[in-house]
Amino acid sequence: MKTPVRVAITGGAGQISYSLIFRIAAGDMLGPDQPVILQLLEIPPAMDALKGVVMEINDCAFPLVQDIVATDDPDVAFAKADVALLVGARPRGKGMERADLLQANAEIFSVQGKALNDHASRDVKVLVVGNPANTNALIASANAPDLDPGQFTAMTRLDHNRALTQLAQKTGKHVTDIEGMIIWGNHSATQYPDIAHCKIDGKAAADLVDQNWYRSDFIPTVQKRGAAIIEARGASSAASAASAAIDHIHDWVLGSDGIVSMAIPSDGSYGIEPGVIYSYPVVCQNGGYEIVQGLDVDDFSREKMTATETELREERAAVENLL
Ligand code: NAI
Repeated sequence: MKTPVRVAITGGAGQISYSLIFRIAAGDMLGPDQPVILQLLEIPPAMDALKGVVMEINDCAFPLVQDIVATDDPDVAFAKADVALLVGARPRGKGMERADLLQANAEIFSVQGKALNDHASRDVKVLVVGNPANTNALIASANAPDLDPGQFTAMTRLDHNRALTQLAQKTGKHVTDIEGMIIWGNHSATQYPDIAHCKIDGKAAADLVDQNWYRSDFIPTVQKRGAAIIEARGASSAASAASAAIDHIHDWVLGSDGIVSMAIPSDGSYGIEPGVIYSYPVVCQNGGYEIVQGLDVDDFSREKMTATETELREERAAVENLL
């Protein structure tokens, strides 16, 4: 039997985790022959609910689950973790300003960054899902000086997948016919879903759709999809967010089929100076990822890429005290 992989998941009793944990346990993330040890973190008031989740995992009798740890101590949850999914976060409360939300989450992610630094596997792969995901990942990384900043990523794969489906539906094709989708920047309404490098069955996507549809319909639809789900469902996206988290880690560990979007530390590529966690087009192989270089950026794209970078630098400024 393969050595079990330790997967830490925060916010284990939340709605994303209610989908995520069971798919990981079924082998969707790391493969059907990869045993896992689930290490679930919650805050004390949610420990009873987490107990119920653990009972349900047990009741599934998953062949791949070797052990389950349920705790409210980050040091225990991240002990020897190979993969850490930071899903739990503080939701925006009534009357809470954006800066308050950033600060409240910053405190959570600085504690978790320290715990990862002190207790996780030296090769841990970290995915931040909890919002504001990019800046939370930056804070966790800043508090983990012994780990490589490149080990800290944030999730824009849900935006990527949403964009794929919008384009597939518009062109009457299937998502698997599309290559080269890119989400640039922040997981927020300033993100830039870019189809300039997309090919559909080998043809340039930009030639297959009307520019007006692309700019006035596609881009805002992808940017505001989260709000549209809340409006329709009365709750934020959960199963789709879990599915995107599975895709993100699956590809990072096992390799991607072409270009995917991951929010990673900016390194100056495409003029985005270091200091923020910015979503780039990447290709994953051999357990790592590399930014796809050399893509042309026209004036329209540059403006959008800068707008989302500016927002990330503002978020950074609001939490500078914790970096
Ligand atoms: P939820 O509110 O159902 O669950 C969050 C869970 O986190 C709760 O059980 C809560 O007790 C727990 N939690 C809070 N602080 C914690 C801490 N310090 N340590 C451990 N657990 C903690 O929320 P849901 O729907 O599961 O969403 C989780 C996060 O994911 C939210 O921040 C949401 O905005 C974000 N999200 C991100 C997406 C992305 O594409 N990046 C997409 C959808 C949601």
